Amino acid sequence: MVRSTASEAGAASTAGAQVLLDLRDIKRRYVLGEATVEALRGVSLRIHQGEFVAIWGPSGSGKSSLMNILGLVDAPTSGEVTLEGTPIGQLSDDALTDLRSRKVGFVFQSFNLIPVLSALENVMVPLQIQGVGASQARERATQALKDVALENQLHARPDKMSGGQRQRVAIARALVTEPSLVVADEPTANLDSENSYMVVQLMRELNRSKRVTFIFTTHDPRLLDLVDRKLLLKDGLLHTDETVR
Ligand SMILES: Nc1ncnc2c1ncn2[C@@H]1O[C@H](COP(=O)(O)OP(=O)(O)O)[C@@H](O)[C@H]1O
Ligand SMILES: [Mg+2]
Repeated sequence: MVRSTASEAGAASTAGAQVLLDLRDIKRRYVLGEATVEALRGVSLRIHQGEFVAIWGPSGSGKSSLMNILGLVDAPTSGEVTLEGTPIGQLSDDALTDLRSRKVGFVFQSFNLIPVLSALENVMVPLQIQGVGASQARERATQALKDVALENQLHARPDKMSGGQRQRVAIARALVTEPSLVVADEPTANLDSENSYMVVQLMRELNRSKRVTFIFTTHDPRLLDLVDRKLLLKDGLLHTDETVR
C-alpha cells in the first residue's frame, strides 16, 4: 500500500522535474515448471529526472526484479513502463537495446569488471560498444575516472584494487556514456560499512554534479540517510514511498 501523504509530498518536491520513468501496475511472475513466483504484484511509480532514490526491503521482496524492469533489462509480465515518454513495451528488440545503451548505466553487486583489463580499459568498454573512436574513448574514460577520484589508478587492474576502488571504477563505467539513469542493484553488498557509505556518498555527489538520476537497492537502512526518496518494497508491493528532502 502506498501512503498517499508521502507520495503527494514526493510529487510536490519534484514539481517541475520531468518524469523519467513511469511504471503502471507492474507485475512480474516467474514460472519454474509447476511453481509460480509472484515477484512483483502491481507496482506503480514515477521517477523524476535528477532524483536519488533507494529501494529497500527484505531479501526476496522483489528489489532485483523491479531494478531489472527499471533498467529495461527485463520486461514485466503485465503493466506498462514508459521512459521519457516512450512506451518500452512497443519497441523492437534492437530499438530497446539501443535505448538502454544510451540511457541507462548499471552498477552491480559484484562489480563485474573485466579482470584482464585496466581500470581505464574497463571504463572504455561501453564507449567502444557504442562505436566511439579509441582516442575519444580514452579521453572520456580518463575524465570519468577523475570524477570518481581514481586518476592515479588508470592503469591498475581490478585485482590490485580494493573493493571500494573497484566499485568506483564500475561507477565511472556506468557514467561514461552520460546516461539519464544509473541503476545500481545492491552496489554495497560486497563492501564493508565504511566503503559502503563512501560509495553511496560518491553516487550522491555525482547525482548532484551531473544531474543523473540514481536508483539503488540496499537492505542496509544506514545507507538511507543520503537519499531523497526511499521506496520500501515488501512481498512484491510498494509498501511506502517517502520523500525525505
Ligand atoms: N529468475 C528468477 N526465476 C525464478 N524466481 C525468481 C527469479 N528471480 C527472482 N525470483 C524470485 O522472485 C522473488 C523476488 O526476488 P528478487 O527480485 O530477487 O528480490 P530481492 O532482490 O528483493 O531479494 C523471490 O521469491 C525470488 O526467489
Ligand atoms: Mg536482489
